[in-house]
Amino acid sequence: MLLLKAQFFKGLGKQLFGQRNFILRLSFNEIRVRAAKFAADYANATYEKGETQTFYNDFFGIFGVERRSVARYEEHVKKLDNRSGFIDLFWPKVLLVEQKSTGRDLVKAGTQAGEYFDALKEADRPRFQLLCDFQTFQLLDRDTREETAFALADLPKHVEKFGFIMGMEKRSFKDQDPVNIEAAELVGHLHDALEAGGYSGHKLEVFLTRLVFCLFADDTGIFEPRDIFLEFLETRTNIDGSDMGPLLTQLFEVLDTPEDQRQVNLDEDLARFPYVNGSLFSDAIRTPAFNSAMRERLIEAAQFNWSGISPAIFGSLFQSVMNKEERRKAGAHYTTEKNIMKVIGPLFLDGLRAEFETIRARKTGRKKLFQAFHDKLAKLTFMDPACGCGNFLIITYRELRLLEIDLLRELNPKGQLNLDALILSRIDVDQFYGIEFAEFPARIAETAMWMMDHIMNAQLSLIFGQVFLRIPLRKSPSIKHGDALELDWATLLPPTQCSYIIGNPPFVGAKYQSELQRSQVRQIADLGKSGGTLDFVAAWFLKAGAYGKGAGVPFAFVSTNSIVQGEQVAQLWPSLFEKYKLEISFAHQTFAWGSEARGKAAVHVVVLGLEPAATARSVRRLFSYPDIKGDPIETQHTAI
Ligand SMILES: C[S@@+](CC[C@H](N)C(=O)[O-])C[C@H]1O[C@@H](n2cnc3c(N)ncnc32)[C@H](O)[C@@H]1O
Repeated sequence: MLLLKAQFFKGLGKQLFGQRNFILRLSFNEIRVRAAKFAADYANATYEKGETQTFYNDFFGIFGVERRSVARYEEHVKKLDNRSGFIDLFWPKVLLVEQKSTGRDLVKAGTQAGEYFDALKEADRPRFQLLCDFQTFQLLDRDTREETAFALADLPKHVEKFGFIMGMEKRSFKDQDPVNIEAAELVGHLHDALEAGGYSGHKLEVFLTRLVFCLFADDTGIFEPRDIFLEFLETRTNIDGSDMGPLLTQLFEVLDTPEDQRQVNLDEDLARFPYVNGSLFSDAIRTPAFNSAMRERLIEAAQFNWSGISPAIFGSLFQSVMNKEERRKAGAHYTTEKNIMKVIGPLFLDGLRAEFETIRARKTGRKKLFQAFHDKLAKLTFMDPACGCGNFLIITYRELRLLEIDLLRELNPKGQLNLDALILSRIDVDQFYGIEFAEFPARIAETAMWMMDHIMNAQLSLIFGQVFLRIPLRKSPSIKHGDALELDWATLLPPTQCSYIIGNPPFVGAKYQSELQRSQVRQIADLGKSGGTLDFVAAWFLKAGAYGKGAGVPFAFVSTNSIVQGEQVAQLWPSLFEKYKLEISFAHQTFAWGSEARGKAAVHVVVLGLEPAATARSVRRLFSYPDIKGDPIETQHTAI
């Protein structure tokens, strides 16, 4: 059925626009940017008679199609009750538009459109019906009965629904809430199926990470047009799954090959995929064998709409649906965005925002100061030495990019840039460093950083009216797969080049530590052979202190509150204060941990920020929790 529809639309495209137009179709990235401009231009349009025609001429222009070459205004029809009527815009076989002035009843407009539809010759009856009052759109696909309603301002998010204007098949997507859990479970099912079939370990992790990237790319404009990956899976692989593995391997090779180095006779369906780079697809891995159920699992995951995914939490959720036992052992307690903000806000973000506002409030000399501030942002670096799926790094990256967008808006108040946006955005994923013990999350972290990069680039494109993509990927985050307690962090990033250390290292009470963990803590804490009841997390505080000493690197971690209570205090804090010359710059007192992942960890935690005493801030922020499940109250002190 799908194939038939695709063929029908391909035929329709050719028939309507000729081969040439069909091939020169605009990319959806470009279309989204045009749609954002259109939405801004018509934000105040309200009057049916006066504005309908320019509105639709421009609307078709978004898609690179000249309205008058396909559709006409005021088409006369004789309704079944013998009365005359006029269709506001009519494109035989394809589209009927009933336009109203803003605020008029679209239900009535729907009835009217239905009457016109019934009055048309059967051969001319259009598949799509659009009701619109300038500010609200209601699109109906009469074949699938699918209805989509949205506000004009949201048009950029829905441009794919109008793919038919360019002769493209339109798909329906399952938008489910909460999308991240759903997506993680879909990939989790595939993971389980592959593992049960004997495809496991490193190769499985690499394979799934690549798939996650493809699934996301297929819905967010990295792959153009949308859903070529889904189409490839549905139409090019056997129903029994037998050739799924080899075809995916071939696709990964294509994604790893620059367009100008590809074979000229490469299969057309593969040649449509872009060069991705970034080493994501470069290592050879054994090809998995699929069966029909596994093929179905993957297609199901590809049908899901990945554009609403939050890269910051998806990875952790993915991990959590996989294996609860493993998760417990590795101490992988997923950190919510709210809790991540408790670390990065007081450590640097609030300060950067305040600096930005101070410049903005100035009456003179703003441009130079903003440029210097931009230089500063572009040089900042961040390390998370227990990064898991990278959520601290991803949220930090997003926040910096948002700050940069605000800054670019100040520097370009009219919104439209003459320069390439690529030059203007100077914050990139290579400012981010992570260390992670488990291979799979380390790989997900890297991929999820690129996903966030793409989301922020798309946002920048919409704001400044230029397509801004970083595909092929030019820069990579540095995510090291290794043991942070054995590794010399300076080999990843010299401390003199590190701006901040952040994260939520694993908590493991002394009683539950493995032999190796106990000896690592003892050695790092310099506790000798005997004694020592320090939690595993304390080793990260000490390593961060040792790493940053001399270079003065501020850091903040989430921690179990046991390190600030009882016998651990004397084992940890003298080293931090006296040996590494640190002071507490801010602290969140004990609060209850909350996690969106399954199997919530029942712990009480603190957040501690430390910085070199020599350069310590004069005002220290203390956040206390009258209700440990509630929000904190902030007080300010000269010392904590
Ligand atoms: C509490 S989780 C936090 C991860 C992530 N920030 C989050 O919120 O999901 C701690 C992470 O540290 C990792 N880890 C445990 N021991 C480690 C070690 N020795 N070196 C590096 N990472 C380690 C775990 O695999 C886990 O991903």
